[in-house]
Amino acid sequence: MCRCARTHEDSTSAPVVAVDRVVLPKTVKPLTYRLTLNPDLEKFTFTVEEQVELKLLVQPSEITKIVANCKEVVVHKASLSVGNTLLPITKISYEEENDFVNFEFDHKDQEFANLEIGDVITLNIQSTGELNDKLVGFYRSKYYKDGVEKYGAVTQFEAVDARRCFVCWDEPALKAVFEVTLIAPKTHVALSNMNCIEEKEYDNDKKICKYAPTPIMSTYLVAFVVYEYDYVEAIATETKNKVPVRVYTPLGKKEQGEFALEVACKCLALYEKYFDIPYPFAKMDMAGCQLSAGAMENSGLVLYRETALYVDPKNTSSSAKQYVAIVVAHELSHQWFGNLVTMEWWHSLFLNESYATFMEYYAVDQLYPEWNVFEQFVHDDFFKAMALDALASSHPVHVPVRVAAEIDEIFDAISYSKGCCCVRMLINWLSNERFREGMIHYLKKFSYQNADTEDLWEALYERTSQNVTEMMYSWIYKIGFPVVSITEEIQQDHKVLTLRQNRFLEKCGIFESDDTVWVIPVSYLVCGADDSITEFSLELKERETKVSIPTSSKWIKFNKNQTAFFRLNYQSDSYYSSLVEPIKSKILSPIDRMSIIEDACTLSKAGLVPTERVFVLFSAYANEDNFTVISSLATCFGTLYNIYKHEEQIIEKFKKLAVSIFSGIAAKLGWIPKPNESHLDSMARPIVLGALVKYGDKAAIEKATQLFDDFRKDNNLVIPDLRPVIYSAVIRYGNEERFNQCLEIFQKTELFEEKNRILRALGLAQDEKLISKSLTMAIDDSVRSQDVMYVLAGVSSNPKATTMAWKFLFENFAIIKQKFEGCFLPGRIVKLLTESVTNADDVQTIRETLDKVKFKSIERSVDQCVESIEINSKWLQRSKNSVLEWLSNNVE
Ligand code: BES
Ligand code: ZN
Repeated sequence: MCRCARTHEDSTSAPVVAVDRVVLPKTVKPLTYRLTLNPDLEKFTFTVEEQVELKLLVQPSEITKIVANCKEVVVHKASLSVGNTLLPITKISYEEENDFVNFEFDHKDQEFANLEIGDVITLNIQSTGELNDKLVGFYRSKYYKDGVEKYGAVTQFEAVDARRCFVCWDEPALKAVFEVTLIAPKTHVALSNMNCIEEKEYDNDKKICKYAPTPIMSTYLVAFVVYEYDYVEAIATETKNKVPVRVYTPLGKKEQGEFALEVACKCLALYEKYFDIPYPFAKMDMAGCQLSAGAMENSGLVLYRETALYVDPKNTSSSAKQYVAIVVAHELSHQWFGNLVTMEWWHSLFLNESYATFMEYYAVDQLYPEWNVFEQFVHDDFFKAMALDALASSHPVHVPVRVAAEIDEIFDAISYSKGCCCVRMLINWLSNERFREGMIHYLKKFSYQNADTEDLWEALYERTSQNVTEMMYSWIYKIGFPVVSITEEIQQDHKVLTLRQNRFLEKCGIFESDDTVWVIPVSYLVCGADDSITEFSLELKERETKVSIPTSSKWIKFNKNQTAFFRLNYQSDSYYSSLVEPIKSKILSPIDRMSIIEDACTLSKAGLVPTERVFVLFSAYANEDNFTVISSLATCFGTLYNIYKHEEQIIEKFKKLAVSIFSGIAAKLGWIPKPNESHLDSMARPIVLGALVKYGDKAAIEKATQLFDDFRKDNNLVIPDLRPVIYSAVIRYGNEERFNQCLEIFQKTELFEEKNRILRALGLAQDEKLISKSLTMAIDDSVRSQDVMYVLAGVSSNPKATTMAWKFLFENFAIIKQKFEGCFLPGRIVKLLTESVTNADDVQTIRETLDKVKFKSIERSVDQCVESIEINSKWLQRSKNSVLEWLSNNVE
């Protein structure tokens, strides 16, 4: 074992593996699954014929039964082939709490008893299941053909739902070969992970398609699709094996697949080069369907929500198009990182998701450098990760997982965004090229196998000789992250700065009693008296260290471009005021500009700086022209608006302040795109105009309403980027008629992106009857369950709906549980319906009620959301008087 791995062992106290996790007995191991699936798209059922070759891992005398995973699948018939003997299965029993099925047989039979370790037997199974409507396992997915509702059959097996389709050994480390055959109507496309090697007629109007055997792979990456599609195709010419790529599109809408096709071909070539490993599967098919996640990286058959794959040249907004590129890049990177090399167990989920998140930015940055996606990363992932990780109820990146129900909840901002921030920090620490060499080594070393977190550190160590374990230890195995507090002391011509690290918690600011120490690569820019800017760096490995800078320095900015994952708490009155000038003049980079307002906003939430500081800072951004900085500004305004939304005196002045800042920015962007304007300006327009509408700018509301009327006459009159602005204006400020006009658009359009734009706006209505209607739509089947979050996000940002939302949750808790249980949606729904609460009495009621009703797969979400609403309510109480005073003195 290498030096770095040992360091980790010595210093670890964190449980790396949950000691009591529920796993299958290690008596047999699947080698090959032969599966024939026959879905019935009318009855919503399916049958499975299955033969699994199993290798004995122990002496036959130690095997009295065969145990596999199975959930909601009914086994009708089973037998065991041992050599030429067919042993009947004498008893089939289910252990529902563990998703186990037991196959008992005469284990004393001579043929079986004579076997040896390593010998192979075959389990034959016939089973049936339901094509469910819960977006898990083998399920039905709704689409429209000439306006008529139709259903196809698709799969979503990650994390542990392959067992809902066929009897299997459903653990990521139990990789096997899959030989799949699908039976489908002739009118339909039938797809699986590999290419079709034989197609024959079956039962007159059906076909039977046999696919090539897969390379060995994990169960969660197996996929089946029976659907009606058109497709566009291309060969990824720059790949070694000339990978055939197809994008399956809605019928008659081939053009919507072109953009993703181009991105996919380029990404495959890029990744082959970056990883120095040819694409590991036979083809790449990508298709859109109903999906609980945004997309799923099944090997060779990636499935996406329609909105994450299809770009309609006339109706897709700039941000939706960028999202398609990001998602495609993310899922294709998993083909290497996740599919070729797979995490050993779910506690290392972050290995998959944080690295794919990094690669999604890396690839899109290579393909579209002018989009500056790494700047957007800081707004979209870095700050999001910090928001969750600043709660006491967060979890470490590497998280012990015991049972299936705990897995869904860890597909969160910690596994994705914090994990990715740690990867980015590590890359900065090691250098791009050395990190890449280490990654290539890791992928080659573990190809077609599994690896754990420690294997990655070790592989990186082997190529870089750097103590990666020591560097990453606290970031990955410990909960939370540090705030670095800085105090200054003047000594002759120098300022001595003391840097002290502690865990940051929003509920108390500095969490003194947590003794975690992180290895923090701290960089800082110092502006000298002569305006020259010098960069310094140090590694903060202890609780405290000191640095000195000349007293004459004009300003100092720590954590250049936010590459390290910490908050900064500079305890000096002049700190923020000294940064106003470099923000205004844009000497600081966009990431540095946004981090200053972001830190100030969060520190005020945690009680470390007065909230008025944030208001003072806003004016520094009045001339901002960078998309991401503008987005951060809008996010900070949104956060503060949520806190003071029910304080009438504050909110009127607050809105005026917001309008004054955003009007300046809007004046430059205007309502009409400039010829050849940048992608980022096109993305900034709806943010800025949306803010003006939100904060009540009359002219903007009128203009948006007029555009809405134009749009109703002719869709082409309003560009897709502006549509969210016009929908939110008419729903927020319009009457029931307007609401219904939007619903009409929702029903008429076939484009899911357009439907979602409407859904996001519906919850903004002011009339209680309409709010109630939106809430009901979320659970009464008017909205596909995967899209419920859009409606609830609108409701959640609507001050008029705060109380109605949590009351609705409790009145309908049983329905929500029943309808959405089984994937990660329930936890997210609870968050959205309660997270805007700021009233202390309500917080108490919510805490007590949720504590009573919570169930296993939402426990973490409930704790997080109760904690964050407590923080918000305290922030409000602590700050409202001084904020009102500041606003009264400074706004009109
Ligand atoms: N593996 C996930 C999909 C997933 C998420 C399956 C949760 C099961 C539970 C996939 O690779 C993914 O991360 N999708 C993202 C895409 C995004 C980060 C670009 C998603 O679903 O949002
Ligand atoms: Zn992913």
